[in-house]
Parts: sequence; structure tokens; C-alpha cells
Amino acid sequence: MDAIELDFAAPRARAEPQAAMDKLVIAGGPRLAGSVPVSGAKNAALPILCASLLTAEPLRLANVPQLNDVRTMRTLLAQMGVAHEEDGRRLALSAAHLDWPLAPYELVKTMRASILVLGPLLARCREARVSLPGGCAIGLRPVDQHVKGLAAMGAEIDLEHGYIAARTRRLTGTRFVFDLVTVTGTENLMMAATLAEGQTVLENAAREPEVVDLARCLVAMGARIAGAGTDRIVIDGVDALHGAAHAIMPDRIEAGTFAAAAAATGGDVTLEGRLGGALDAVVEKLREAGATVDVGDGATRVRRDGPIAAFSLRTAPFPGFPTDMQAQMMALAAVADGTSVITETIFENRMMHVQELRRLGADIEVEGNAAIVRGVPRLAGATVMATDLRASACLVIAGLVAEGETTIDRIYHLDRGYERIEEKLGALGARIRRVK
Ligand code: UD1
Repeated sequence: MDAIELDFAAPRARAEPQAAMDKLVIAGGPRLAGSVPVSGAKNAALPILCASLLTAEPLRLANVPQLNDVRTMRTLLAQMGVAHEEDGRRLALSAAHLDWPLAPYELVKTMRASILVLGPLLARCREARVSLPGGCAIGLRPVDQHVKGLAAMGAEIDLEHGYIAARTRRLTGTRFVFDLVTVTGTENLMMAATLAEGQTVLENAAREPEVVDLARCLVAMGARIAGAGTDRIVIDGVDALHGAAHAIMPDRIEAGTFAAAAAATGGDVTLEGRLGGALDAVVEKLREAGATVDVGDGATRVRRDGPIAAFSLRTAPFPGFPTDMQAQMMALAAVADGTSVITETIFENRMMHVQELRRLGADIEVEGNAAIVRGVPRLAGATVMATDLRASACLVIAGLVAEGETTIDRIYHLDRGYERIEEKLGALGARIRRVK
């Protein structure tokens, strides 16, 4: 593909309008009971949508979750020239003509995962410009591994006007050792390596199930990948990938959120979806907290009759306890018998739900990266504000167990990553409604 002159003055895409003013109102108390279908995984869908950039033939996806982040990614791909056809949870993407390998700030700022277009664009178009994610325009730290890895594969990378500008004649295979475990970093380099010349070995790679799902999709497209799901992934580059069909794996974080809600409300909920071992670390903690969890092939049943026991957890890369479930488990700890210690090791600033939980009457102290949660007999409804995606889920769980009414403001965060959460919870018996 010839080099393309990019016109920064012509933004062709806007972020999806978000339901900025919507609120959730929850009347706490009812125990959740019944079955709930688990949607497709947001964090698998986002990289897999980007994989469509790697081939001129159509990629047909099933079980695609209907989420704002997925819509944002589709908008981003569409403005690069990717055609799409949607039929409910099915989505066909065709990148036959890529004429605009650019990810503008307007979209990247709303979704950090936009960085996932960098590797595929560079591999296929040999050039790409991707805005630095918001908040890190003064340095590369949060995406330094993506950039270092692509540079090791022979890309020339500059920082210009807040954009990562990358170009290459052709990426070449290399051995790259990640300084730290990064999920999207691993996915970006794995995608780039599928079309590189020769073999790429990624060491200290992320082992998350979503990396494995992406690898499965890439292999269906003709990529040669071994070791996904271990910390050493070996990719033998090919000249071209072809079209394929792939069904997105179930969302282990959505499942875990419903499981935590079931445990918190003393409920009995069956999660419908083949989760394999993806939820093991969460299941173990829920059992420690006093829940009974039966893990079946296509369904997982979570129930609790007795008291909630205090527990301690530390977030870690997979197979450790997922940081994306930390906030939801804190809502459970808030009403446990005794003191729980919850330590966040992945993100520096992921305790913003603590002050909102306190507004509901929780007794929590933060010391460094640990929250000391002294369980209280009951929470009391109040108005709280969602600050990020998983913090919002934590407040929903807290609202379900709090006495009286809880109003959660700024739920557009929730709509980024949970499909129809109020409908799903409502079907399980929660008294929850969205106020426009
Ligand atoms: C992904 C998930 C997110 C989850 C996170 C950790 C998607 C779309 N998002 O995010 O839901 O919370 O994994 O499981 O899959 N880091 C660097 N340099 C880099 C890359 C990362 O310093 O180049 C740091 C980050 O600042 C963070 C840690 O590494 O402290 C882990 O981040 P990473 O695994 O990259 O998270 P994401 O892939 O962005």
C-alpha cells in the first residue's frame, strides 16, 4: 500500500454520544435469583474487531456484545475504511480498502483500547498514526511496551502533535521481552507479528483468556501462533491473512460481577455461558467469602445462605485475581463479617469507589495500594457517582444490598462495558430502573 498523507485537520469520526445524564435508581434488599445469560467479552471483542484490519477479506463475528466501547471501536474502524454489516450480535467487518490509518484523539480519549489498531495498521498498511491516550500526552509510559515492541520489530516511531506516528517497510520478527505484563500490549504485538517477516517470540506475555481468544481468531484467519495462554508466544509471520468466522468468548468480568452480586444479596444465580477456567480466581474468593459455587460445563451456579466471611485478595495478571473484579469484591467485603484487605497491584489509581462506598456507610481505609475494609452490618442508600467502569459495577452491587434507595449518577461508564445491566438484574429480581 502506498504511503498516505494524513490530514489532521479533518476529523472523520466522533465518539458515540453517551447517555451522559442517565442515572440508575436501585431499591436495595431483594436477593437475586434465576438465570442470566453471559454476554460476549468486551475485552476479547475489542482486539478481535481490530484484527479485521489485518486482512482484505471479511471477518465474521458472532456473540459480539452490544456495548458503547464496541460501538466506539466500530466507528474508529469505519473511519479508516472498514465496512461493516451488523445483525444483532453478529458483525461482519471488511477491510478491503484501508484509506485512512489514523486513530484520532476524539475517539482514543474515550477508550484507551483504541491503541489496539496500532499493530494491525502498521503490519498491513506499513504506517499508522494513533493518538496518545488522554492523560498521558506528556509521556509514553502507559503504552511504552507497545511502542518498544513495534520498534524492536523494525518500525520507526515518532511522537508528533500528541500522536504516535509509526512506519515501516515491513515488520520483521524478533524476540521481545515485556518489562511488565500488559494485556493490550501483548495483543498489539501478536497481531503485528502475524504479518511480519520471520518469527517473533514474545516473552513475559499476558496469559489472559482474551489473549487466547484473539489468538484463536487470528489462527482461523491463517496466522501461525503457538503458546497463547502461556507467557511465551511464538508467531511465525505469513504474507497475508484471510477471512474467517469467530464467536467471541463469554465475558468473565460480567459473569464475575453477577456472581459477586448474587453472593452479596444472599441470592441464587446461574450464569449461562461456557467460562472454562476463566473465572477460577474469582470463584475461589467467592467460596472464601461463604458462597457456594458449582462450576458446570455451560453454566455456573452461585448461591449464599450463611454469613459473608471476610477475605483478602491481591490483584495480579491472569491467572491471578483480575483487577477488573477488585471493585465489585470490595462491595461484598463492605458487608462481610470481619475485616478484609484488598490490594491493587496493577493500576495505581483504582480505589476511586472507596469514597463512594463510604457515602453508603462502608468502613474503609486506604493505605497505599491496599484497602482495609471493616465489614458493617448494613449499608444505607444514598446518591453516589460512578467514576469508572468497574467502580460503577461496585456501586450497583452496593446499591442492591443497601437499605433504601441508591441513585447512581454518571452511568455512561457502565454502558461502556455492561450490556443492558438494569434489564439483566431486573430479571433476577432486583428493583432497578434507569432514569433518563
Ligand atoms: C487491559 C484490559 C483492562 C484490564 C487490564 C489489566 C482491555 C481492553 N482492557 O487493559 O480491562 O484492567 O488489561 O488486566 O483488554 N503498562 C505500562 N506500559 C505499557 C502497558 C501497560 O506501564 O506499555 C502498565 C499500565 O499502566 C498498568 C499495567 O501495565 O499499570 C497493566 O496494564 P495493561 O495490562 O496494559 O492494561 P490494558 O491492556 O490497557
